[in-house]
Amino acid sequence: MDDITLEYVSSINDDVEIIQYDILGSQAHVVMLYHNGVLNLSDLKKILVALQTINDEKIELVTGAEDVHELIEGLVIDIAGAESGGRMHTARSRNDQVALDMRMKMRDDINAICRYLLDAAESMLSVAQVHQKTVMPLYTHLQQAQVGLFSHYLLANTDVLLRDFKRLYQTFERVNCSPLGSGAVGGTSISIDRHETANMLGFDGLVENSLDATSSRDFVSEYMAMQSILMTNLSRIAEDLVIWSTSEFNFVELADEFTSPSSVMPQKKNPDILEITRGKAARVIGDTAAVMAISKGLASGYGRDLQEIKSVVWRAARISVNALQLVRSVIITMKVNQKQMKKASVSGNLIALDIAEKLVMKGVAFRVAHQIVGSLVHTAHVAKKPIRRLGSDDILNAVEGTGVQPHMVSSIISVITVNSSIKDRKSFGSSGYAEQKRMIADRVDVIGQYREILTKRESKINASIKHLKEEINEIVNTSAGE
Ligand code: ARG
Repeated sequence: MDDITLEYVSSINDDVEIIQYDILGSQAHVVMLYHNGVLNLSDLKKILVALQTINDEKIELVTGAEDVHELIEGLVIDIAGAESGGRMHTARSRNDQVALDMRMKMRDDINAICRYLLDAAESMLSVAQVHQKTVMPLYTHLQQAQVGLFSHYLLANTDVLLRDFKRLYQTFERVNCSPLGSGAVGGTSISIDRHETANMLGFDGLVENSLDATSSRDFVSEYMAMQSILMTNLSRIAEDLVIWSTSEFNFVELADEFTSPSSVMPQKKNPDILEITRGKAARVIGDTAAVMAISKGLASGYGRDLQEIKSVVWRAARISVNALQLVRSVIITMKVNQKQMKKASVSGNLIALDIAEKLVMKGVAFRVAHQIVGSLVHTAHVAKKPIRRLGSDDILNAVEGTGVQPHMVSSIISVITVNSSIKDRKSFGSSGYAEQKRMIADRVDVIGQYREILTKRESKINASIKHLKEEINEIVNTSAGE
């Protein structure tokens, strides 16, 4: 190939991220070949020493190789000699190799993202803990809807992040299956043990069918979709904070280190980190579309198109990890303007629904109650005063034709406040005081459990790899002549 062609078809730049996995995969593969009598000890040792040397010396990638698989095999042959090194690629193909490397990297990335998700959820929860009494308006259509608590908002997003965790945690099950030993597409006549390599590399199982294992990328689509959802969720948090940090809202003030000044307007504090988060979400969504577009309509069996998937996959994980860290930092460092939140809650007749509910509890049909309170809100709006300042004429007017006693309405109005509204809010999962406490305690538990299962999962992989490395050391250090 000439330089332009080689650069066009080469994946070497994307492969930087999978060198370590490629080496590990090769180590497991040759040890398995030895165990199964395909490779003798002397060849095995030479190959393992070569792989170790390549690993330790951090290979130089500008070599004109088509990909990392070819590059490493070439280096092994250089170091170990063609007679031994040339045996490494027995009973496998770059097609099962690349699928293997991707899966190993992706499972590590999933575990990392999962950990950052739990950190972010935990921080969200810790801020919620502080703001269980911080009253704020809750919005629908970005219009004030009901009185609520800031902790309720933070708890909502804690749950969102915990769902993101669960989604990715489950995706791992589909990712952590070994394709190794599938060969190019149809398997091999050489006696290999695919279960053994899967075990050595910490997989939970196999992608059994060799055609499926080498050519399917639905596990990538799923992985990208999960991160698109995650980033979409973060972008919504980002947008809320962008709006709430405006001088018009002034509910929160972002820490200086997570805002940037305008180059011309000295008073400005731009929420760049949050805006970039919205923008990065778009990129991950676009990259997900790219993965699916590459996979769509592809004939069965490996096709080189699949190579184009790799770079966006690595990029998605980087974006998710960074976004999670930054959104978390923004949330734990921002100042919450409780006074302003309260002021907005009091001024907006947000207790309207609470008044209607009290009428319902006194036997009035909800639709009638809604009509009465609607009339009160209208009068209050025209008169530019809060509902509780309305006179008896206004109340008389509101109940007219409903059969509801005006004193019933006035006695309800006189006792309902923003605080009583939150106190009386009792339904499961609501923005009432009692529910905040319950939900916080529950989520603390959930996060603890999730940390445990994640740690178990990581330890299993680490233990397998450690075991493999110990075995390699033993093999390399046994005296020659065996
Ligand atoms: N560089 C390729 C990729 O990234 C590896 C597999 C190449 N296989 C092949 N038959 N050319 O997908």
